[in-house]
Amino acid sequence: MLTFFLNFYKSGCESILPSGNCSLPAKGPTEFPPNFSFGAATSAYQIEGSWNADGKGPSIWDDFVHNHPDNIIDRTNGDTAAESYRFFDLDLEALKYLKVNHYRFSISWTRIYPTGDISSKNQKGIDHYNMVIDKLLANGIQPMVTIFHYDLPVELHKLGGFTNELFIDYYVTYAEELFKNFGDRVKTWITFNEPVRFCKPGYGTGRDPPQVTASGIGDYLCLATILKAHAAAYHMYREKYFQQQNGKIGITLDTSFFFSETNDTELIDRCLQFSLGIEAHAIHSKTGGFPEVLIKDIGRNSLQEGRIRSRLPSLEGKWKDYIRGTADFLGINHYTSKYVKRATQPMGTNPSMDRDYDTVEIVDEKNWLKGKSFWLFCIPEGMEGLLKHIRDEYDNVEVIITENGWSDEGELEDDNRIHFMKSYIQGVLNAINDGCNVTHYTYWSLLDNFEWTKGYTEHFGLFTVDMKSPKRKRTPKKSAGYYRRIIESKGIPID
Ligand code: NOJ
Repeated sequence: MLTFFLNFYKSGCESILPSGNCSLPAKGPTEFPPNFSFGAATSAYQIEGSWNADGKGPSIWDDFVHNHPDNIIDRTNGDTAAESYRFFDLDLEALKYLKVNHYRFSISWTRIYPTGDISSKNQKGIDHYNMVIDKLLANGIQPMVTIFHYDLPVELHKLGGFTNELFIDYYVTYAEELFKNFGDRVKTWITFNEPVRFCKPGYGTGRDPPQVTASGIGDYLCLATILKAHAAAYHMYREKYFQQQNGKIGITLDTSFFFSETNDTELIDRCLQFSLGIEAHAIHSKTGGFPEVLIKDIGRNSLQEGRIRSRLPSLEGKWKDYIRGTADFLGINHYTSKYVKRATQPMGTNPSMDRDYDTVEIVDEKNWLKGKSFWLFCIPEGMEGLLKHIRDEYDNVEVIITENGWSDEGELEDDNRIHFMKSYIQGVLNAINDGCNVTHYTYWSLLDNFEWTKGYTEHFGLFTVDMKSPKRKRTPKKSAGYYRRIIESKGIPID
């Protein structure tokens, strides 16, 4: 997506534009509901290391970093990372320091099934996560488990990965292994993390593994497969495990929020449909399927390209009803916001998701507080706006904020992270005070970790990790102490 510098002016519709100063006034009660849960998040490949220990098989990320080190900005990889596989106790200490109520982590598919398939079942992998879950619970921390966070088994990629509908069967078998082994203790399951962030670079532009370049085709196919696999796992859990285990299942979607200088609410809605509705509509809307605006625009573009069917797979018939309603909550990863305006010339390559989106995203580089990540700006109004959009669009479904975080150079005196947390958490509280059904907030990330193609150059952690010490010593940053105060008081410290 193109981003342009915009020297915006304050117009008559000031109330819907972000102030740009990374702060948000409180509206209503200053404390979170007593059962509100605060946590921190990580994912397996980004922290575990031990990439081939104890029988673990290779994932597409293992292959990618080994075969294409140039694609990682600092030529690093997750081979050892923060060594959380070997030193989980250090992570536990960090979690205890924060006094979190829950911990979101992901399970590495190839530790459980090294080839992706049940025939390769690896007890050592199962033992590892049993240990993690038991220790969390022994310390009063609820485990929140992501079943898939980008690390597809290489052997399943060879079969076409997310472009082969057979993937659904493999995924359901793997998910069932997790329910069987851990479901007596894990009560919150996330089927997939950020489908768009996985499918677009993985099966569209080909920037990320598995590097399939099928822009505007493979990415949509991948997104459709994810919806089907998600629904299949949900139905299986409901039919076979829910009665004894009584857990909740949802999917985690990521989206920015959008502002329009000209108060073009139709455009804002279009952006939210392309960004969030592209997966949320099929699961959480009353009508199901892909959003109307996507069906219409991608269908029209496909015909204009001389195709006989839309590049957006059809969910009509069996799938629509099968997918609709298959989630007990909506997981949201939200970090930043953009201004948007209608494109005046074709966007991206042809065909592509960007071309279909047909919208220009704009950031105010000059006035907005900027994180280390090029896409990250502190716009807390967006958090509040997004949660209200979800309340209105998806029948006030329960929302679990599964990620929200700030990147910097890794400094211990991380005041900007504190500003960011303070204002975004205020956005969550304001939304709750306005009737939004938000039950959890999860900071990304517990520790500095491997930020995919950015390697170890962008630091999101509440704890820094000494990558030179063999035991990967963790040290709390100033923000860790601040977050602990929020958790302890269930409110936002004023000073
Ligand atoms: C999204 C992803 O889930 C996570 O893996 C990533 O590190 C963070 N956001 C920050 O980019």
